[in-house]
Formats: sequence, C-alpha cells, structure tokens
Amino acid sequence: MRDARSNPFQPGWGKPGVWAGRDLLVGEFTDVVLPRVADGVKEVPRLVQDERGMGKTALLEALADEARERDCLVVSVTAARGEDFTRVFAAALAGAAAAGSLVERLEGRVSAALARLAGVTVAGTGVTVSGGGEEPVASVTLTDALVDVGRLARDTARQLVVLVDEVQNVGATHLAAVFTALQRALEHTETDQHPSGGTIRYGLPIAVWLAGLPGALANFRKAHVTFGERCELVALGPLDDREVREALVTFSRFNDAGVVFDADAIEVFVDVVAGYPYTFQLLGKAAWDAGHGQVITAEEVHTAAERIEPSMRQRYAARLEGLTDDQVAYLVAAASLSDEERTPTRVCRAWKADPDATASMCGGMHQRLVDDHQVIRRGPDGRIRFALPGMASYLADLAR
Ligand SMILES: Nc1ncnc2c1ncn2[C@@H]1O[C@H](COP(=O)(O)OP(=O)(O)OP(=O)(O)O)[C@@H](O)[C@H]1O
Ligand SMILES: [Mg+2]
Repeated sequence: MRDARSNPFQPGWGKPGVWAGRDLLVGEFTDVVLPRVADGVKEVPRLVQDERGMGKTALLEALADEARERDCLVVSVTAARGEDFTRVFAAALAGAAAAGSLVERLEGRVSAALARLAGVTVAGTGVTVSGGGEEPVASVTLTDALVDVGRLARDTARQLVVLVDEVQNVGATHLAAVFTALQRALEHTETDQHPSGGTIRYGLPIAVWLAGLPGALANFRKAHVTFGERCELVALGPLDDREVREALVTFSRFNDAGVVFDADAIEVFVDVVAGYPYTFQLLGKAAWDAGHGQVITAEEVHTAAERIEPSMRQRYAARLEGLTDDQVAYLVAAASLSDEERTPTRVCRAWKADPDATASMCGGMHQRLVDDHQVIRRGPDGRIRFALPGMASYLADLAR
C-alpha cells in the first residue's frame, strides 16, 4: 500500500530517490574523467550552467556519491552570496584532506597556511594582498595546498574531486583567489625519472565540476578570471521523454511498496513533466499522494497535475519577474506559436501584429531576452526556445 510516508519522490533540491536520465554525464565523470586524471592526464574542468530546477545540484550530488564510492577525496561546496568563499573552500579542502587521513602527511607549512586560511577571517574580504605583489596570498596558499593534496592523492592511488555548486554566488575577489589556485593546480606538471632513465611528466589527479545559473561564466569574465573560459560548458537541458518514461516503467526499483505506474498514467506524466526535473518530483509526489492503490492511474496523475499547478505558476511567474510588459508581450507572442513556427521573424510579426515585420526590427528585444535575461535561447536550427521547460504553455495560458 502506498501512503504519504513511503512516498519516494522528493521535491526540493538535490539528488532525489527517483532519478531519471543524466546517465551520459555521470558516465563521463566515472568512465572518462576519473580514470583519465588517475592516469595523469589534465582534464578540463566542467561548468554546468542551467536554469533553476534543471538538476545541477542533483547531478553534483550524484557525482559526489560516485566519487565517494570510489574512495576519492571530495571537496564539495555550495557558494552563498556575500560569504567568504575562500575560507569556505579552504575549510572544505582541509576537511577532505582530514577525511582522507592525509593531514599528517601534508607539508607542515602547507597545512599551517591552510588552517590559517580556513579558520581565520582577515578583516574585510578575508583575503590579504602580499606586500608589493599583485597576488592575493590566499591563491598562493590554496595552490600549494591543492598541489600537495593532489600529490598525496596520487601517492595513495586516489583522485581529488572538487565540486562547487551555485558558483554564480562567488564574489569577484574570491573567484580570483580560489579559481586562480585551481587553475594552477590543474596545470601543474610533476616530473619523475623512470627507472630505465627516461623522464615522465604527468598532471595531478584533480577533477573539477562547477554548477551555476546561466550567468556564471559571465561572472568569471567580469572578474577577469580566465578559469571560466577554460571550462568545458555543459548545459543539462530538459530530461528526454524517453528517460522520464524509463524511470516510470522501472518505478518498482525506486520504491519498496511495490507500486507501479499504469501505462496511460506514464504518458500523461511524460506530457505534464515536459522534461523539467523540478516538475518531475513535484508531480510524482502529488501523483503518489493522490491515491492508495498499488497502481498509479492516469486519473491520479491528472489530479496531481491540477494540484501542482499553483506552485508551477509561481515558479514561472518568478522567472519573469523584472521583465518589462513589452518583454513579456514578446514572450507571449513567441508562446502563441508552435515550436516549429517559433523563428525570430515569425515571433516578431506576431508581436508587432505586422505580417511584413522582419526579425531585425525585434533584434534588440530578442538580444536582451537571450543575453541579459536568458529566458529564451536561440536553438541550433535558428528557432527560439524557452530556457525553462513548460514556460511556453504557461505563457500561452496567461494570454487566454
Ligand atoms: N535527473 C533527475 N531525475 C529526477 N529528478 C531530478 C533530476 N535532477 C533533479 N531532479 C529534481 O528536480 C528538482 C530540482 O533539482 P536541483 O535542485 O538539482 O536543480 P538545480 O538545477 O540545482 O536548481 P537550482 O538552480 O534552483 O539550485 C529537485 O527536486 C530534484 O530532486
Ligand atoms: Mg541547485
């Protein structure tokens, strides 16, 4: 029997009990990145940029789980606006070294400097500038510490995995300190003599994955920190309908109550979710709570969809906050067209109610919504796409 207590769905944030898709990214981490850094290959850091609720935190948590299962040293931090991120990062690095029983083996000067950085707030930003030099002391300390921990990880056949969530919240000073250090550690080359006489060069076994809102990369640029540009950008994008369907078809593996989804219920579910992970959890939870039977029915999913509508509407409305009436009207015009029809020209014509309008007449409007507000994107086929899955239906309803 199903009841609220045994509900396996977890709206909120982070890695849920019921999980769909993202296999390629998790596989890239476990099967490509970790083995490669273990071999001494320098892997580019990844920057996952996407909208709220697309599953960034869930993905990083999944990576952290995989890393811990493989006995990696994991530095996992979530940045908060206005905080001393350098200190937070230093503390997490010291914590990972301690958890890996490496603290005693760290060079004395390194561990002392790291402890100082982690434990003491220097007035103001927490980062002091060395006398005469341009370099923040913090970045030098962190570089030393990362290199030292990286070496020890290698000596003990482990990898150091650095995961930073909400990276858009890191202030400019701390972006410079922490990510300059990470970049140096990633670029660091060790040289060894091979017993037979040759020289061997290799990088440290460090893997870095960052996640943040779409503006994250721009913050690096604004702070003149080149780390962002060296990252490989990853957009999560919506879950594939097939992935959502697969999770529901195999739903029995996610719950102990033996509950399954009826085939029609699955189709309704896939439709309502429209690839948005946030909706997936919310709808799943409501559908589970909509009845008590062993089988979740299509009718229960319909009921659930109605129940979650107010929260979904709130979420979309929040995403449109700060836009002008004109901008919203442009988006509504875009939403009135089908995916197929949504070209810049057709949207401009719909918005201006002028069948002869050209896309260039709406160029500025389009650009601001793409670049500044990032509420729409230009797809590879030139058509306009909404960044948030389900936004088009929300706007179309708004217009009714
Ligand atoms: N692959 C997935 N399958 C099923 N549910 C998921 C998946 N990824 C994320 N979710 C769920 O979607 C919701 C949003 O996920 P998450 O918190 O990871 O998003 P986010 O991108 O970090 O959002 P934010 O920018 O607000 O932090 C959560 O309830 C999470 O459990
Ligand atoms: Mg998150």
